Amino acid sequence: MSQEHAGEKNVPVIELRHVDKHYGDLHVLRDVSLSVARGEVVVIIGPSGSGKSTLCRTINRLETIDSGEILIEGEPLPQEGRELARMRSELGMVFQQFNLFAHMSVLDNVTLGPREVLGQQKEEAERYALELLGRVGVAEQAHKVPAQLSGGQQQRAAIARSLAMRPKAMLFDEPTSALDPEMINEVLDVMVELARGGMTMIVVTHEMGFARRVADRVVFMADGQIVEEGVPDAFFDHPKSQRARDFLDSIKGH
Ligand SMILES: Nc1ncnc2c1ncn2[C@@H]1O[C@H](COP(=O)(O)OP(=O)(O)OP(=O)(O)O)[C@@H](O)[C@H]1O
Ligand SMILES: [Mg+2]
Repeated sequence: MSQEHAGEKNVPVIELRHVDKHYGDLHVLRDVSLSVARGEVVVIIGPSGSGKSTLCRTINRLETIDSGEILIEGEPLPQEGRELARMRSELGMVFQQFNLFAHMSVLDNVTLGPREVLGQQKEEAERYALELLGRVGVAEQAHKVPAQLSGGQQQRAAIARSLAMRPKAMLFDEPTSALDPEMINEVLDVMVELARGGMTMIVVTHEMGFARRVADRVVFMADGQIVEEGVPDAFFDHPKSQRARDFLDSIKGH
């Protein structure tokens, strides 16, 4: 990528143009266009099965698309090969399940990518890993294996692991859904800090308080389509579509 291109402020960090995808007969993404600016936090909400996870997974090509385009800082995602691996490593992804390697210490989990993919020396990788683990509040757990950590601690370590790759953007797919209630906030707090620090983020979540507080924009999906989007207060207080009103009614009180 040219430096000029990368430095341009107006080029969206992530852009989807008319993306379509099927699983067999199921039209899971329908003409989805979405543009995420540098430093922007976009929260995606919508009913189960509406395609939120699929959308996230297409953005770093864990899933292929049938048609349309996905651009990262203005460059199309390559189909495969080295370039794809490089661009994929520039997008951090945190899932519902923590996905840390069980047999490795937390520190080794965090330094693996920087050492293997970025070619960092052990000391350099460990120094930054410990800084990040400190930032997410689990520095004391660095030498433990994941099973010795709580779910909330594991998820925070998983965030640190993504950050260690110095990603251009972070994708979160329901990062708190598998957590016990008392651990949800400790993970959300880390995400709030990241957002405040200027990280570009796409967050799929059912945490409406987080969405209201942190999102620059809320995107509502249903049946594989973006039905409505807007700033949080406008969206939550005055949803325009019946689909969004029904959805918001259905989750009230949860
Ligand atoms: N690998 C797959 N093969 C076939 N169908 C799939 C596959 N993955 C997802 N689907 C289907 O695609 C649709 C969208 O799934 P997706 O997981 O993207 O929804 P979601 O909005 O993330 O839902 P949830 O809120 O439950 O996580 C669903 O009907 C799902 O059953
Ligand atoms: Mg999902």
